[in-house]
Amino acid sequence: PIVALVLAGGTGTRLYPASRSDRPKQFLSFGADKSLLTETVNRVGFADETYVLTRESFADGVRERVPNTAVLTEPDPKDTGPALVYAAHRIRERVGDCVLLCLPSDHRISGPFERVGRTAARVAVETEGIVTVGIEPDRPATGYGYIKPGPSENGFAPVETFHEKPDRETATEYVREGFYWNAGLFAWTPTTLLSAAASSPLAPMVERLDEDADAAFDIVDPVSIDYAVLEDAENVFVVPAALDWDDLGSWDAFERVLDSQDRNAVLGDAVTIDADGNVLASDGHVSAVGVEDLVVASFDDRTLVVPKDEAQRVREVVAKLRDDE
Ligand code: GDD
Ligand code: MG
Repeated sequence: PIVALVLAGGTGTRLYPASRSDRPKQFLSFGADKSLLTETVNRVGFADETYVLTRESFADGVRERVPNTAVLTEPDPKDTGPALVYAAHRIRERVGDCVLLCLPSDHRISGPFERVGRTAARVAVETEGIVTVGIEPDRPATGYGYIKPGPSENGFAPVETFHEKPDRETATEYVREGFYWNAGLFAWTPTTLLSAAASSPLAPMVERLDEDADAAFDIVDPVSIDYAVLEDAENVFVVPAALDWDDLGSWDAFERVLDSQDRNAVLGDAVTIDADGNVLASDGHVSAVGVEDLVVASFDDRTLVVPKDEAQRVREVVAKLRDDE
């Protein structure tokens, strides 16, 4: 069977102040009808079973948004590495052999997904490998993993190298050389993932899973699956996909997904006069006059202003607010 595993345990720090610690970005809809989480779960309706993997404090919020879907909670927020290993173990206990189709819940994908999802699942079974989905890049984004494909056959290719979040210069080189972006969508059998993780920084956890999965989780440090497993694993494959895809990771992404209003990307209501290239997002009303390439985001009683090309730095604000608490 194909078991969809939707990752919904991150907070979406860089979308502050829309996302907050009790309101992660996957719970938000950003102008669409449904939350990103609901859209993701609906996208994998073709799977035989679906689990949402999240942290304890988001579990009720998840159940509210996708009431008929199983929720699996991990003992602590430790990024995607420990979470995915834990889930592979738990789901194998419950379901037995299966293919896990893992999906982040911070993507907007327009158009059909089923064919890509089924292909990734098939390749995972055929190769007994770790399967990624590759997107053709259109800019040297630094927030993604980059995949160098080998010679392709039958809709997929072996991965020669995987480099998570390279710097701008390296990313530019990779785009020129025809690398793919890692879409963050993975397929593997629980057994394949667990054996790859057994020769990774997650090894101490894997060794103790059978004894006590929660205790095993406690002993590892936070790390994403990309750094922990994908960069070094041997049997990684990529299924190239022509998906209309975007990771809503930071505010600058909204200029790609929102319709423009007088040359600005607007979420909520806004008036613009001689304003160009701004992202104006709010739960109220924003006015922008004579400014260019800014992000202005205002939610609840909080306002953020940052140059659009420094939108990644919102992380620093959230870190500072946490320190001040
Ligand atoms: N359950 C759980 N637990 N989920 C988590 C955790 C956690 O501790 N941390 C993050 N997630 C969820 C997020 O909610 C999101 O849906 C997904 O896992 C991916 O996490 P991100 O933090 O958004 O990762 P990223 O965007 O920086 O990078 C990943 O995705 C890119 C494509 O969007 C990597 O796989 C990159 O290689 C990839 O290019
Ligand atoms: Mg992401």
